[in-house]
Amino acid sequence: MAQISLIRDKIGDRDPGLLPGSINYPRPVLDPHYAKYYQSGQVMDIAKEERAKYDTHGFAAFGRHQPTGLPIHGPLPYEQCFLTNIPHDLDLSGNWITARPLLAQLGIQVQRKIMGGSFGEVWRVRMGPGNNYMAMKILQIKQFIGKYGSLTEAMRMMLRDVESVRGLRHPNMVSVENVLHVRDDRTGFRAVYSFIFMELCDGDMLDEMDKLPGDVYDEVGAHRWFKQIIEGLDYLHQNRVAHLDIKPDNILFKLQPRRAPNVYKLADFGLAEVFHADEPSMERSIKKGTPRYLPPEVFVYKLLPPNSPVQVFDMEKCDIYSLGMTLALSLIGFNGIDQYCIPTTGWVQGLDPNSFIDDFLVFTNKYLRNHPMIDLLMSMTNTVPGQRPTIQQLRNNPWLQQVL
Ligand SMILES: Nc1ncnc2c1ncn2[C@@H]1O[C@H](COP(=O)(O)OP(=O)(O)OP(=O)(O)O)[C@@H](O)[C@H]1O
Ligand SMILES: [Mg+2]
Repeated sequence: MAQISLIRDKIGDRDPGLLPGSINYPRPVLDPHYAKYYQSGQVMDIAKEERAKYDTHGFAAFGRHQPTGLPIHGPLPYEQCFLTNIPHDLDLSGNWITARPLLAQLGIQVQRKIMGGSFGEVWRVRMGPGNNYMAMKILQIKQFIGKYGSLTEAMRMMLRDVESVRGLRHPNMVSVENVLHVRDDRTGFRAVYSFIFMELCDGDMLDEMDKLPGDVYDEVGAHRWFKQIIEGLDYLHQNRVAHLDIKPDNILFKLQPRRAPNVYKLADFGLAEVFHADEPSMERSIKKGTPRYLPPEVFVYKLLPPNSPVQVFDMEKCDIYSLGMTLALSLIGFNGIDQYCIPTTGWVQGLDPNSFIDDFLVFTNKYLRNHPMIDLLMSMTNTVPGQRPTIQQLRNNPWLQQVL
């Protein structure tokens, strides 16, 4: 008889052996090939080429993914999971919605769709003893197998959302509370859905920008979200996790009672990477982030001759660049970028953002050239990773020190 297994994953069991030893680890040493190509200026051409592909297909179709083994936190500890075998005649080969009766059986009321993400949908649900509202992200293995080749790799990628942040909690990151895996034994892993239950937020930064005058944050608004998100990012980095997909859609906000300022949270850990406790945050493979927010050095591998030493890049500095781009976007807006930057300097096509960010902000008469925020944007999006500020330097930045 067909078996449907529900595997409940206990979130919060983070292997203590993987916790950071010391936070004073060395910065990555870039291999000479990397440095040579990087300085040659060709990197920007490659970035341009890759970003253009993205624009044509509307999808991050680039990337060389080298399986780096299982995440450092290890595979899901199935042996510790609560497992029930329920004989059932449901057909789970289609949409996850077919699994809804199973969710109902577990007391989970599926309420309304929040978003159809690229890898799955996010729904609002009510569940648990307190009948609390939660966000439920649905991942289907089917979508991953085609993209990542093998079942193992697909499973690994699918569970990244959970594995990278297992047991981590911070007010400025969305917490993952629980995970439920549904496996249809008739089809092995092929019909697996994973339901990730997270703290529910009220929207993402793009939703908020839509409601603001000119669809952009003013200085106070940008200061508010940015200050909070660097705390979330610092916590993540201290715990050896690089986000690698920082952008406005992955920063959520939560409204507060009595009109208190919103709380902002980093979300979507689907591309996050864990770096080892005694290694600097170097990465050896190219990620599938969103090109608009990716630093140029992640495109450098294309220039390396065959059999060259493995190229590495500093994942934390990659996050700093993406955060800088997100800050720029939140102040300039997509309209500003599309109308001004594409025809002139062509940021989206891969040109150096430093050539336009300050131009744009100053040009629109919003900010003076010596405004400390512009300086900050310039340094965060510096094409040389080593020149970008650390989180500590960001905190001490005059703009962030200001009380706005
Ligand atoms: N906890 C949450 N509360 C409220 N809304 C959420 C929550 N999580 C996600 N969302 C909404 O759903 C959107 C997509 O979620 P998420 O970024 O996790 O998925 P995704 O972009 O499809 O993931 P991936 O990058 O793995 O493809 C978010 O941009 C946000 O608008
Ligand atoms: Mg996302």
